[in-house]
Amino acid sequence: MADGLTKSAARNIFYGGSLFFFLLFAALTAHSHWYMVNVSTDSEGLTDSVKHGKEVWEKNMCINCHTIMGEGAYFAPELSNVWERYGGLENPEAARAGINAWIRAQPLGIEGRRQMPAFDFSEKDMNSLIDFLEWTNSINDQDWPPHPAG
Ligand code: HEC
Repeated sequence: MADGLTKSAARNIFYGGSLFFFLLFAALTAHSHWYMVNVSTDSEGLTDSVKHGKEVWEKNMCINCHTIMGEGAYFAPELSNVWERYGGLENPEAARAGINAWIRAQPLGIEGRRQMPAFDFSEKDMNSLIDFLEWTNSINDQDWPPHPAG
């Protein structure tokens, strides 16, 4: 009997292991695509306005100061849940008006407080931006980030 592995046993472990992990990888990829995407995001609510809102978000580089789902800069509050923090789950109209008023009121100019710049959005861009924030709030992010305002 040979000491250690025979060549053919080593080959079988190599091919068997490669095949096993390849199948596992394929199964997890399929799981992410067909299952997780449908349970964690609201694809029906992904309207043209939400998509436009994401463009407004990107063009104006809100992420240079804010985080969204924990990603971005840590200068300003987390915004993936700002809809909820403005009471959007109980009273969507009030949350919409509140976020709109907040953005329109910038910069506040309060001494010693971090400032948000003014953005001169059209009503359409503002509505879409808020639709995007509302939609983002509906993503199942498993309560991430753990602190509500990031
Ligand atoms: C230059 C940095 C900067 C940029 C860029 C910026 N913000 Fe802000 N934002 C802030 C700061 C700082 C605050 C918190 C200010 C305060 O509390 O007085 C804030 C607060 C907010 C709030 C209120 C959050 C809360 O918890 O009450 C909203 C909503 C918001 N920003 C949306 C946006 C959007 C949308 C954009 C992009 C169009 C954007 N911000 C771009 C700095 C920025």
